Amino acid sequence: MVVIKARAPGFRPRIAVVLGSGWGGLAERISNPVRIPYAELPGFPQATVAGHGGELWLGHIGGHAVAVMSGRKHGYETGAVDGMKLPLQTLKSLGCELLVQTNAAGSLRADLPPQSLMLITDHINLPQRSPLVGEGGSERFVAMVDAYDPGLRAQALARAAEQGCSLHSGVYAWAFGPQFETPAEIRMLALLGADAVGMSTVPETILARYLGLRVLALSLITNMGAGLSQEQLSHAHTLSQAALASHSASSLLAHIIGTLVLD
Ligand code: HPA
Repeated sequence: MVVIKARAPGFRPRIAVVLGSGWGGLAERISNPVRIPYAELPGFPQATVAGHGGELWLGHIGGHAVAVMSGRKHGYETGAVDGMKLPLQTLKSLGCELLVQTNAAGSLRADLPPQSLMLITDHINLPQRSPLVGEGGSERFVAMVDAYDPGLRAQALARAAEQGCSLHSGVYAWAFGPQFETPAEIRMLALLGADAVGMSTVPETILARYLGLRVLALSLITNMGAGLSQEQLSHAHTLSQAALASHSASSLLAHIIGTLVLD
């Protein structure tokens, strides 16, 4: 907080954004950004994953003041799932009212091919891990119905339709990683009602709801789930597929964020 207030005096963002693989282009759409490396921010994650930046960007997108985290902490990096707690608490105390999350994900549906965009309507916390373990008080028993805010989702779908951009809706399953899934796990996830699978987002959504932030989340589909196609899965493959759709994804997201009606 002290560092942020010194670098951007009086700046009060209303929207926090977390950028995952393939979404880094959004940062380029921030006007007059102040960039602060995570290394200067106590409690912010030190990036260990290629393709994930490590900077907080403060500036404007369209009509809104935003705080954009380029890079996040994943559960698979250390085993702890509360690595985003301090950053999200910091962004909340700066003034943020909502959290926009992005990620790269594998698809479980033939009609959701690589390079599609999916609006997350709900999630499956497959590892059944929570960043709230250890919290006291009754606030820790957070309701997760409509965790992905229906009003914000409706706005995102409307903006995508106006732009002629296809935005699917679906359920995101959190797989702990860092290994990719087996084909049997992918078949199980599809049976359980998931549409896409990835290794992030769910802990942050739980934290955000605990902190009283509304959540909007989008997945960029980079591959079919293991066994659903001939593709060889790897992190390099995820990044190269993400790069192909990154321009259109960032452009849609900037439009959605810039025009969000918050009240
Ligand atoms: N599985 C898990 N995480 C992912 C995938 C996947 O297939 N693709 C991108 N992130």
